[in-house]
Amino acid sequence: MSQEDTPIKPWGGRFSEATDAFVERFTASVSFDQRMYHQDINGSIAHATMLAKVGVLTTDEKQQIIEGLESIRKSIDAGEFAWSVQLEDVHMNIEAALTEKIGITGKKLHTGRSRNDQVATDIRLYVRDEIDVIAKELIRLQEGLLSVAQREADTIMPGFTHLQTAQPVTFGHHLLAWFEMLQRDYGRLMDCRKRVNQSPLGAAALAGTTYPIDRAYTAELLGFDQPTANSLDSVSDRDFAIEFCAFASILMTHLSRASEELVLWTSAQFDFIDLPDRFCTGSSIMPQKKNPDVPELVRGKTGRVNGQLISLLTLMKSQPLAYNKDNQEDKEPLFDALDTVRDCLRAFADMIPAITAKKENMYEAAKRGFSTATDLADYLVRKGIAFRDSHEIVGKSVAYGIETNKDLSEMTLEELQAFSTEISEDVFEVLTLEGSVAARDHIGGTAPNQVRAAVERAKATLIKP
Ligand code: ARG
Repeated sequence: MSQEDTPIKPWGGRFSEATDAFVERFTASVSFDQRMYHQDINGSIAHATMLAKVGVLTTDEKQQIIEGLESIRKSIDAGEFAWSVQLEDVHMNIEAALTEKIGITGKKLHTGRSRNDQVATDIRLYVRDEIDVIAKELIRLQEGLLSVAQREADTIMPGFTHLQTAQPVTFGHHLLAWFEMLQRDYGRLMDCRKRVNQSPLGAAALAGTTYPIDRAYTAELLGFDQPTANSLDSVSDRDFAIEFCAFASILMTHLSRASEELVLWTSAQFDFIDLPDRFCTGSSIMPQKKNPDVPELVRGKTGRVNGQLISLLTLMKSQPLAYNKDNQEDKEPLFDALDTVRDCLRAFADMIPAITAKKENMYEAAKRGFSTATDLADYLVRKGIAFRDSHEIVGKSVAYGIETNKDLSEMTLEELQAFSTEISEDVFEVLTLEGSVAARDHIGGTAPNQVRAAVERAKATLIKP
């Protein structure tokens, strides 16, 4: 670009030489902040509308500005807008295009505002829009979990502690545990949204402005709950972005844990579930392979989302009030976290309802590993034996089972009675897997009827955003 073509910097008045070409690229944010163009245009329209209301702009000027901005929106939508690095960021690109389009009136748009409150407004609007999309995906995933939980309320699988067979549980119960994690995530997201949805517009550079602006009006026009309270805080605060990333990290931790289980369960060693081919990929060398790439990638992406949270915390930790250029570095981590979380939720929401449970394998696995040993101990307690003694008795019968390769439910009454004469025919009701899960019949327990009741309660809590 020749000297004549170089767009004039909106702040160029006090400068006597052009910006170094590398510095121009180094300081520009347009490559990544242009994705906020809708929010930037909406913020500018609200600002111009307010300026006309308070008499700083004429109605005609406001009209020209709005029409100009709308036609710029169309050209960006159509991919016809020429973004310029010389114009640094989305804000100055759009403002310069407006002036080019409508002339001197375009130069009045920035009255009573600064890029500092403008960018803070744009990011909040952007995050709010994305939160609403993410909330929908989160709920879609939760609905999927509930439908599979309902379907699998009677399906028995081993429950684990230390990844060792512990007690039988129902697959539906396991899926409801995931649902609960997401329920907390949803609460955190909605809580974050409240603090996102405050309008910093009008804080101007840092101290407010001398024009008779109406901040409550712009807040209302943009759908914010209210204007922020302090101008210095308004332009420098990025807590809302950190909060979003904190939500995102915890959510990703949950998705990662679920992914880990899906990966284990699809392995030949567990073989508990089948993922449809469309969520898996093959190997270029081993023809037999079907790899659970989607859960693996979700597990992997957790690391980068955690990284974005740490980036933002570190970005903010030493900044004096008010705005500093450092803040431009908020966008890439934030956008990456938003994109990653949205995509991972989408993948999960598509995949979960498509899982098939290999019920027989789950059942057989629950039979191995003496998963009803606790049930036998509880049975002996009901017959009047102290728990510590019954624990000892059952321990010995398990040792016998290991030696003879028999589950407790496969031993004869005589074999069992060798360990305690308190054992009688009714023991087999508690030694079966069905008896074991059915006996955990209280709120939060794994009994199939409790799982079904929990699904009904959970459905009632799912509010559409
Ligand atoms: N591109 C800048 C950012 O992302 C906009 C605000 C610039 N303000 C300033 N005083 N240089 O933060």
